Amino acid sequence: MSFINNLNWRYATKQFNGNIVGDVQLDTILEAIRLAPSATGMQPYHIVVAHGAMKDKLIESSGQVAKMGASHLLVFCSRTDYPARGEQQIANTAQIQGVTTESLEGLKKMVWMSFESKTPEKLIAWAERQVYIALGFALAACAELEIDAAPMEGFKPDAFQEILGLPASIHPVVIMAIGHRDPEDSAQPSKRAKVRFPKDDLFSFQ
Ligand SMILES: Cc1cc2nc3c(=O)[nH]c(=O)nc-3n(C[C@H](O)[C@H](O)[C@H](O)COP(=O)(O)O)c2cc1C
Repeated sequence: MSFINNLNWRYATKQFNGNIVGDVQLDTILEAIRLAPSATGMQPYHIVVAHGAMKDKLIESSGQVAKMGASHLLVFCSRTDYPARGEQQIANTAQIQGVTTESLEGLKKMVWMSFESKTPEKLIAWAERQVYIALGFALAACAELEIDAAPMEGFKPDAFQEILGLPASIHPVVIMAIGHRDPEDSAQPSKRAKVRFPKDDLFSFQ
């Protein structure tokens, strides 16, 4: 199928059939997330991949029990551990590009400016925007692989934080259940037309 056909095939899955997503496909989805771009390249996020009993516990706590048949639950978290994250980015860049950290002064300035120029509230909002780009890549990757996915903001981030034992600097923002659709799910596009605004509403050309 073409990419656009796959985007028409996908939908926010309400009911999954309990089948497990294979390791290779899961790894491809995670790789797409890893390759997502982010402002300054800092990737200020962390994604917990929950399965089995932990996945069930999280879904139960979210109240979205219709999603219980999902294979995995990806918990997209923002991270606000600056400047440590910036230091990691510089070290990672130096190692991958085979250069000294001293030669990365320009990058360091840009990275530091990205968190020093913002209030704590703006910093959180900035990190969360990067998280949503990663979510978008994950959704597109799932569509490509014909893996079903349900993105959700309907959950209690603080409860997830506690259940997962995450430090304060890593905060759940949005979650995505993945798996395979229940053929009975009435929300799927073959049973219920996908609703989008037309192009002349969404785009204008100048
Ligand atoms: C960021 C985000 C959060 C969402 N949160 C929920 C949610 O909590 N519960 C739910 O049932 N659907 C949720 N959805 C699904 C949307 O309602 C759905 O994507 C939208 O109506 C478009 O339909 P489609 O994805 O089936 O094409 C969410 C989608 C996104 C992108």
